Formats: sequence, structure tokens, C-alpha cells
Amino acid sequence: MKKQKKFIKIAIDSPAAAGAGTLAKKISKHYNLLYVDTGKAYRVLAMYKINNPKKFNISFAKKKIKNLKVKDLNKKKLLSNKIGTEASILAKQKSIRNLVHKFQTKLAYSPPKKYSGSCLDGRDITYNIVPDADFKFFITANIKTRALRRYRELNQLNMKISYKEVLKSIELRDKRDYSRKIAPLKKTKDSVLINTTNLSKRACFLKIKKIIDKKIRY
Ligand code: C5P
Repeated sequence: MKKQKKFIKIAIDSPAAAGAGTLAKKISKHYNLLYVDTGKAYRVLAMYKINNPKKFNISFAKKKIKNLKVKDLNKKKLLSNKIGTEASILAKQKSIRNLVHKFQTKLAYSPPKKYSGSCLDGRDITYNIVPDADFKFFITANIKTRALRRYRELNQLNMKISYKEVLKSIELRDKRDYSRKIAPLKKTKDSVLINTTNLSKRACFLKIKKIIDKKIRY
């Protein structure tokens, strides 16, 4: 009989709008894993900073992260372009990263008991947050495809923005995320590269599923 290993940890890194979130959600549902979109934790802080620019400091951020629940990461307003940009600026700060780091590791290593493991996606998950993950993926797509996907997503949410603006902000965000000194975005040697540019969501999912099933079922 086929049997699934008791606890699995999946780590995913990707640049903005590469399709990692959609894939990670599907994988998490399939294997009963807690899914954490780690970028949303930076986005939550960015939202507080935008709304309370004078009050915002590290102890304010600490309080917010301490009370943060996974369900708080699902708020639609967090998806705005402005919040994404501010999140990438905040994410350069060591003190902010340390706060978010604790939040992420707790969820990755001790998800609620009903789950059979965890699946985190972000920028530094494969080498910084869950370096001993059972599976590591680097998900990417060409920049125009990513910008188009994000543009459609934002417009569907009635967040009016032009394709050009989205492309420009993704370019800037890529630059910041890949080149920052602390925990930059990178593909580790032990991560499997998945380029989603010309693949359907289903095809990407099946590619990943094949890799996971090969290892966890015997
Ligand atoms: O993934 P998302 O676009 O929501 O992330 C927003 C920003 O948060 C990213 O551009 C990046 O600067 C930062 N981030 C990070 N490390 C992570 C996840 C996100 O630095 N693990």
C-alpha cells in the first residue's frame, strides 16, 4: 500500500508574480499542508506603515507580527501594488526580517496538528527559513508574462493600474529583491527550477507532484 511520510516541508522561492502562490496553494491542498505566503507578512507591515507613517517603528512592527494569524494574510487589500512596493523596501531591513523570520519558522516547523506539514513561498525560504526542507523549488517566468498576470489580477480586483506601471514596479522590485544585502532572492543549487512562462497551472502542478510523489510514496 502507498503511504505518505508523516511530515513534509516544502520551500519555494520566486520573483514577484511568477505563479508560485497559485501553485503552492494547490500543492498544499493536495498534500494537506499549511500554506504560508510569506510575502504577505511583509505586506501587512507595509500596510501599517502606509496607514500610520508616524507611529510605525520596530516595536510597533513587533506587536503587529506577534498578533498576526495566518488568516490575516488573506486580506485582498494587501495585494495592492503600493503595498507590494513598500513591502520590498521594508524587507531590506534586518530588524524587520528578524521579526518575520520568527513568525515564518514557527509556522513551517510547527503547523497546527491537522496538517501533514508546511509549504512556504517567498524569497529566502529555501536557504534561510526552511534550509532543511524536503522539497525546494525556484519558480519563475519571464518578466512580461509576470507583469501581465499581475496586471490582470489587480484589474480583476478593481485596483486600477496600467500594464506599464505594473511592469515597471515588478522590475524595480526584482532589482531590490535580487540585489539586497540581507537574504536576497536566489535560486539555490538544491532547488528545482520550474519556469511557468509557457506552462498551464495544471502542467506546473503535475510537474511538482511527480517530484514529490517519487520521494514520499513507497
Ligand atoms: O511575494 P510578495 O510579492 O507578496 O512579497 C512582497 C515583498 O516582500 C517582496 O517583493 C520581497 O521584497 C519581500 N519578501 C521577502 N522575503 C520573503 C517574502 C517576501 O523579502 N520571504
